[in-house]
Amino acid sequence: MKLIIVNGPNLNLLGKREPEIYGTQTFEDYFSQLQFKFKDIQLEYYQSNSEGALITKLHEVGFSYDGVILNAAAYTHTSVGLGDAVKAISTAVVEVHISNTHKREDFRKTSYICSGAEGVILGFGLQSYDLAIQSFL
Ligand code: DQA
Repeated sequence: MKLIIVNGPNLNLLGKREPEIYGTQTFEDYFSQLQFKFKDIQLEYYQSNSEGALITKLHEVGFSYDGVILNAAAYTHTSVGLGDAVKAISTAVVEVHISNTHKREDFRKTSYICSGAEGVILGFGLQSYDLAIQSFL
């Protein structure tokens, strides 16, 4: 099984960024743990701060991989383009968020991703990614 985690803007700063919301672990460190735990899965990771680059990555993987785990971060709440890309590809997408976006500011309650996603996992910290992987198994 081939899965890719696609992370959007500012998620490269995990570990340093608002640790009270997003925790103190870097994503690189957490990703190594995931690779160790899910040894039978071909697991890849991609991060970009650019909306276009994220769309291009979805196009690249979205007809051959078995699943995409997408945390579009702030673009979740703004990007019609990313939402359309999720709908355009044939690979299943699970939307993930580290924080419970519904407990936060109102603008975070809107998602342009969820209507094209298989499901949404949010609010479990970095473990949300682990749960998303399990949803593909
Ligand atoms: C986030 C939630 C978004 O609202 C925010 O813009 C992020 C991270 C999360 O994983 O909790 O950057 O997607």
